[in-house]
Amino acid sequence: MSDFYALVIGASSKISHAAIAQFEQNDACLGVFAVSRTAPVESFDPKTHWFECDYSETAIRQVCKGLMPFAGKITKVLICNGILHEDSMMPERKLEDVTAAQLERTFQVNTIIPMLWLSHILPLVKGETSAQISVFSARIGSISDNKTGGWYSYRASKAALNMLIQTCSIEYARRAKNVKLIAFHPGTTDTPLSKPFQRSVPEGKLFTPEFVATQLLFIMDDVEMNNKATYLDWNNQAITW
Ligand SMILES: NC(=O)c1ccc[n+]([C@@H]2O[C@H](COP(=O)([O-])OP(=O)(O)OC[C@H]3O[C@@H](n4cnc5c(N)ncnc54)[C@H](OP(=O)(O)O)[C@@H]3O)[C@@H](O)[C@H]2O)c1
Repeated sequence: MSDFYALVIGASSKISHAAIAQFEQNDACLGVFAVSRTAPVESFDPKTHWFECDYSETAIRQVCKGLMPFAGKITKVLICNGILHEDSMMPERKLEDVTAAQLERTFQVNTIIPMLWLSHILPLVKGETSAQISVFSARIGSISDNKTGGWYSYRASKAALNMLIQTCSIEYARRAKNVKLIAFHPGTTDTPLSKPFQRSVPEGKLFTPEFVATQLLFIMDDVEMNNKATYLDWNNQAITW
């Protein structure tokens, strides 16, 4: 594998941490750019450079501007941002639970922020070398696979994210042919996001962040570079959109 730089957005995620650790151990990885609302206090490998970002358009533009010296050399990108619940909100179980506030909040984090990154990072990833961008989606965002209903905000925010990824892939195919976009479903993973729902997960189906990161980095190396967006799960299996 040729030398590369990695960009991990939403780097406080447990899966991001595991991916960053794996990039740090990879000799071909010359550096990791980790973007988060808050840089960690504990020390990471000197290979990793942290950027604090409030995900406003101005801040996203600033981070991308700062990374321009690495344009064309950043070939692995993870966009991990996503919320399912917060202190004041849980996934909706019925129509009466739906509020404008929860829809807006969830779409802001799960859909709008990843889209802003896809919009601003094109000059960083465009180049001669194959590059993969994995955006963390979820199987629940599949419109064709929706058999159980509920979780209105989260489900719809990921479905909208999938549509934006698909739409971006058409423009990227024209303007950055070296780039592959992946909508990634990590499977139920032991992170703060899934904590309140882990009791109902069947035995052996709650993954560690380390396992999911290993799967994802393998998938990114292995994926067919065909200028089309792909919706894949942790096991490298296609999900219907
Ligand atoms: N865990 C699962 O079972 C599971 C299943 C399916 C899909 N996913 C998806 O996987 C991704 C990573 O989730 P995780 O399980 O690793 O969760 P996590 O450890 O709770 O990480 C949360 C992520 O969301 C970002 N985030 C949280 N609040 C935010 C806000 N107000 N504004 C902007 N960003 C915010 C964090 O970014 P900062 O670094 O800026 O804090 C971080 O990247 C999410 O997109 C999630 O939907 C997870």
